[in-house]
Amino acid sequence: MGSPQRSATATTVLVLLMVLGLVGKTISDPRTSIAGLFCSKTLAVSGNDFAHNFIRTMGNLSSMADDHGHGTTEVGEGPNSVYGLVQCFKDLSSIDCRLCFAEIRSILPKCYPNISGRIFLDGCFGRYENHSFFDQAMDSKDSNVCSSGRKSSNPDKFNQVLKMVISNVSLEAQRSGGFAVGSASSSQVSVFALAQCWQDLDKRLCNACLQNAASSIMSCSPGVEGRSLKAGCYMRYSTRVFWNLNQSTAAVHSSGKSYSLWIIICSALGGFLLIVVVVIWIVKAYMRRTYCDSLPDLLGSGLSEAISQSNLNFKYNDLKRATKRFDASNKLGQGSYGTVYKGILPDGREVAVKRLVLNTRQWIAQFFNEVDLINQVRHKNLVRLLGCSADGPESLLVYEYYANKSLDFFIFDVNKAKLLDWQRRLEIIHGVAEGLSYLHEESEIRIIHRDIKASNVLLDDKFKPKITDFGLARSIAEDQTHLSTGIAGTLGYMAPEYIVHGHLTDKADVYSFGMLTLEIVTGQRCSSVGTQPGQFFLSKIWSHYKTGTVDQLIDRNYYDEEVKDEILHVVNVALLCTQATSGYRPSMAKVVELLRSSKTEEGLYQPSDPPFLDVVPMEGRGELNNSCLLATGATQNISESSESSIAGR
Ligand SMILES: *[C@@H]1O[C@H](CO)[C@@H](O)[C@H](O)[C@H]1NC(C)=O
Ligand SMILES: *[C@@H]1O[C@H](CO)[C@@H](O)[C@H](O)[C@H]1NC(C)=O
Ligand SMILES: *[C@@H]1O[C@H](CO)[C@@H](O)[C@H](O)[C@H]1NC(C)=O
Ligand SMILES: *[C@@H]1O[C@H](CO)[C@@H](O)[C@H](O)[C@H]1NC(C)=O
Ligand SMILES: *[C@@H]1O[C@H](CO)[C@@H](O)[C@H](O)[C@H]1NC(C)=O
Repeated sequence: MGSPQRSATATTVLVLLMVLGLVGKTISDPRTSIAGLFCSKTLAVSGNDFAHNFIRTMGNLSSMADDHGHGTTEVGEGPNSVYGLVQCFKDLSSIDCRLCFAEIRSILPKCYPNISGRIFLDGCFGRYENHSFFDQAMDSKDSNVCSSGRKSSNPDKFNQVLKMVISNVSLEAQRSGGFAVGSASSSQVSVFALAQCWQDLDKRLCNACLQNAASSIMSCSPGVEGRSLKAGCYMRYSTRVFWNLNQSTAAVHSSGKSYSLWIIICSALGGFLLIVVVVIWIVKAYMRRTYCDSLPDLLGSGLSEAISQSNLNFKYNDLKRATKRFDASNKLGQGSYGTVYKGILPDGREVAVKRLVLNTRQWIAQFFNEVDLINQVRHKNLVRLLGCSADGPESLLVYEYYANKSLDFFIFDVNKAKLLDWQRRLEIIHGVAEGLSYLHEESEIRIIHRDIKASNVLLDDKFKPKITDFGLARSIAEDQTHLSTGIAGTLGYMAPEYIVHGHLTDKADVYSFGMLTLEIVTGQRCSSVGTQPGQFFLSKIWSHYKTGTVDQLIDRNYYDEEVKDEILHVVNVALLCTQATSGYRPSMAKVVELLRSSKTEEGLYQPSDPPFLDVVPMEGRGELNNSCLLATGATQNISESSESSIAGR
């Protein structure tokens, strides 16, 4: 292979990467960069009560962000009550709103246990206080955040254009429900701006806030970026487009100049793509064979060798063909990190191919090492990873294929639930426990799954469970958006200490396993509110447990009086796993052992620590002296550990 050919290939690949980069930017973005975080310096009166109300507030805000993109809530009474507000900016899609709020949820607890905190991300806003603040438009914490370094080279012109666009978006937002984006340009100066009022704020106050923001943000001129962070609204301008195009096109229409700007951008992009296609076509015709191999060259020869010599290596083009170009008819489902397709390899093997959402080149080396590691993890209840492809425009993972989709397709479906009798359910529960125990304690690289849920348990043709999506979180957690995806995807299953403090141990998996087990037994989703309005899944089960009526909750699709004791035994173990204080939860190895010890034996471990959301302490705990029984009030311990973990930051 001659060097001119080599450099031609390299150019093509670089061009491709640039195009991907461009396209990537126009895809929606939850804008989770922090614009401002303000915590009060006053400690709450009672750490315990405040902690509980805080968690509930975050839970309420999360569901409001999911459902409406904004909302307010108040939880508790007296000095320890918590008032919360969330607002996603209206150009965010509902998925991005979730992601953005997930980020708030992971950062705002930094203010805890102090009585208030507010956080401005560039895509959403969140605030909590121990008093009502829903009618505040401005207060003493208001501030402007201006770009420190870069300034416009033409300050007078810039100031003029900025003034125009700011006053336009401010007026437009006042007219149209509290949100507007706009742009203005004049002789080489373009400014883009966004204004957002909290939708739960009174309209008059909203207008006052926007006017105030519009005048104070001018102090950032001629800096090329400016943000005004107010108690009741947010305003931002920049010399580049920063909002999500899709939604905002309607608002942009009103401004003729920027509309034509989009036409220019689009046609430029179109032309560019055309050139790229032609170049690719020429280069491909020129030398068919070398294209695939040359990308690793660019990435460094060490990695290139590692990939090509490894039996984990799959060719992108082969996988593309195997899945009929990722045809929708081959789609199996949506995993935590990407969409999964069924594929048939040239040798007839059926595989599941996951297209990873995350797709940056820098990540590939790390990704490959990770795949190599995960490949060493083998267990009958874990999905086998067959390999990956890193040679194409996106990263793919190749897994074994299982005929029966994931557990959630069965347990939550009225018709399919009948296919799972108690024996099958019990085997699934045992299998998942064994798989997790292996991940935690027996595999060479110990792995915390982080994302145990029904859709991450696949079933083979004999309904044997296979846990999927483990290991990836380890490397993906480095990437912020994916940490949020993980968090956003699994709220109902997440252990309280993980939600509040991001404190992750294998006991977080134990908690999720407990939730999953309760779902399998009851046939109800842990994240949906139960039949009694306002009560959460876990506290409902807990209260039935206390009154000895758990059998009322069991899924009637399989319930049989004969297996009642067995079922109660499993529920008992699940409740041990979902105790609020992580230290009281058994290890997965212990869970496996407990599940095997059949039915209710004398001296069975009793869950002593009620679920986090239900804080009534349980009377008459047993005298047995084991790790599961040393509870003395969940709240106490959680707030203690929280203080130390915050101090440790
Ligand atoms: C909470 O308040 C304490 C006491 O005033 C202060 O020292 C601490 O910095 C505050 N925490 C945060 C995160 O601001
Ligand atoms: C918030 O959640 C609590 C339960 O934790 C519930 O009682 C309350 O009604 C919820 N409030 C709102 C506004 O959703
Ligand atoms: C908020 O907390 C502070 C200090 O903990 C307390 O003095 C104050 O009364 C509380 N505010 C309300 C409205 O309860
Ligand atoms: C701003 O608003 C004025 C009046 O509505 C309009 O004439 C002008 O074109 C707008 N400017 C931009 C850049 O949208
Ligand atoms: C983006 O556009 C698509 C189709 O053009 C539409 O279905 C979708 O709702 C839009 N998304 C948002 C956030 O407006």
